[in-house]
Amino acid sequence: MATDAIVEVVGVRKRFGEKEILKGVDLDVPRGRITTIIGGSGSGKSVLVKHIIGLLKPDEGEVRFEGQDICRLGARALASVRRNFGMLFQHSALFDSMTVEDNIAFPLVEHTSLSGRKIRDIVREKLEVLGMAGIERQFPSELSGGMRKRVGLARAIVLSPKVIIYDEPTTGLDPIMTQNVDQMIKEAEKKFNVTSVVISHDMASTFRISDHIAVIHEGRIVEHGSGDEILRSSNDYVRRFLAAASSPHRAGLAAGGDA
Ligand SMILES: Nc1ncnc2c1ncn2[C@@H]1O[C@H](COP(=O)(O)OP(=O)(O)O)[C@@H](O)[C@H]1O
Ligand SMILES: [Mg+2]
Repeated sequence: MATDAIVEVVGVRKRFGEKEILKGVDLDVPRGRITTIIGGSGSGKSVLVKHIIGLLKPDEGEVRFEGQDICRLGARALASVRRNFGMLFQHSALFDSMTVEDNIAFPLVEHTSLSGRKIRDIVREKLEVLGMAGIERQFPSELSGGMRKRVGLARAIVLSPKVIIYDEPTTGLDPIMTQNVDQMIKEAEKKFNVTSVVISHDMASTFRISDHIAVIHEGRIVEHGSGDEILRSSNDYVRRFLAAASSPHRAGLAAGGDA
């Protein structure tokens, strides 16, 4: 076990019918850092994060949160462990008929018995920290795409999770929006002092934000390390994946001394 891994995935296997998607995944997620999981579409990235948050149970192996195997917990204990995770999906999945305030307040209303006034205070504070003070009464449809992402983030962190999971947060976004979301992920890490797990297939974004990168292929983590370590990987799949990505990474690859 790594010295300070907040999440450890150990030998996880998962099959759906005939198809084994995860074939023994090992992954340590270092506390307080940004870890990105990259891999081809359909390689099992979302399936892996669903194990991390306890939405799926492995056929074999363990998922530990702060040292505790969450796969064998009962429903109530698991629900309380899940409070440590905030999720942000590709589509912010805001409720269109609710104001920004009610959207962000939703998890607090569902999971706490805080007073309405206290809840409003928390919502206001999150909006301020994320640079969106005063938009409480607006509706999602009145906001730009970037603002909607930020509101989604405010909602994801409103219960003060220790880990935020971003599943393909930049898919379908233009390069400028992608950079905004990257910036938001970095900001969230600093301002809320969280551990971040990002699922991505965007290489530029991955190398910009990550402290740690893990590459999944054919059901296993085939490489992991810092961006530099990934660029210098001798793993055949990693090299092909990098080569297929856009030119800045080829430049990076050359700079890595392997060209
Ligand atoms: N609940 C499920 N039941 C059956 N097959 C699934 C289920 N969830 C995912 N899969 C399959 O697992 C594979 C990996 O899916 P996924 O993790 O979503 O890929 P990605 O890396 O693109 O996120 C896909 O072939 C998908 O169809
Ligand atoms: Mg996915």
